[in-house]
Amino acid sequence: MTTAVIGTGAIGSVIARQLASGGETLRLSSADKESARTLAAEIGRTAVVATDNRDALQGADAVVLALRFTVLKDVIDGIAGPLADKLVVVPSNPLGIDKQGKVSRLLPEGQSSGEVVAGWLPAGARLAMAFGTLPADLLESSSNRSPELAVLFYATGDDRAGEEVERLIRTAGFEPVKVGGIEQSGRLEVGGDLHDLIVGPAEARSLTGGA
Ligand SMILES: NC(=O)c1ccc[n+]([C@@H]2O[C@H](COP(=O)([O-])OP(=O)(O)OC[C@H]3O[C@@H](n4cnc5c(N)ncnc54)[C@H](OP(=O)(O)O)[C@@H]3O)[C@@H](O)[C@H]2O)c1
Repeated sequence: MTTAVIGTGAIGSVIARQLASGGETLRLSSADKESARTLAAEIGRTAVVATDNRDALQGADAVVLALRFTVLKDVIDGIAGPLADKLVVVPSNPLGIDKQGKVSRLLPEGQSSGEVVAGWLPAGARLAMAFGTLPADLLESSSNRSPELAVLFYATGDDRAGEEVERLIRTAGFEPVKVGGIEQSGRLEVGGDLHDLIVGPAEARSLTGGA
């Protein structure tokens, strides 16, 4: 199947490599065209660079928006039409970084990026918050862990999105565990109890109460 990855920076490039390793065909797009081209060349013939974000969605079954929170709304607005029948996977934490490199939370305590992004998506888009719980280097080193796969938690309120994101998480070399609906996505984000957590399936299910 085919997934579009929009944003080929730190986390998008790891997600793309992991999905490609699991056999997914990729359509890549980024403001940083050079990083998209370098990544596609590294992955080989199963990854193509799209001409722009909208073109990346052509023929894609799903899209990963691997973007900083501050650009997400503009990107979604620019591709809203073709997003309407897609799984939309978002790893974004609600963080901003100023010119001095100081990181700050952009949303009030208690409000998650999942809840905000859900309000930005067009009707028909199926949102799953996933792939944003681990730092890029830890995500990279934890796939296809043996003897027991590491868990990637996800949140969605849509059953079909749940099946689709579970397929992508398995393709990337992890065991999927649902935390709950989008209202639970704060648990996955920076400051949440499941953020930055590497566990196996049994511990993950005890933490989520088997959601
Ligand atoms: N990095 C991590 O370890 C990590 C871990 C978990 C979750 N996350 C979350 O993942 C998201 C992405 O983080 P990141 O560290 O990967 O950021 P990043 O390295 O800055 O990558 C973002 C990419 O998006 C591109 N981009 C910016 N505007 C765009 C647009 N309008 N259309 C298409 N591409 C655009 C950027 O290009 P330019 O560089 O040219 O702007 C860059 O290639 C963030 O919300 C973060 O909270 C990151």
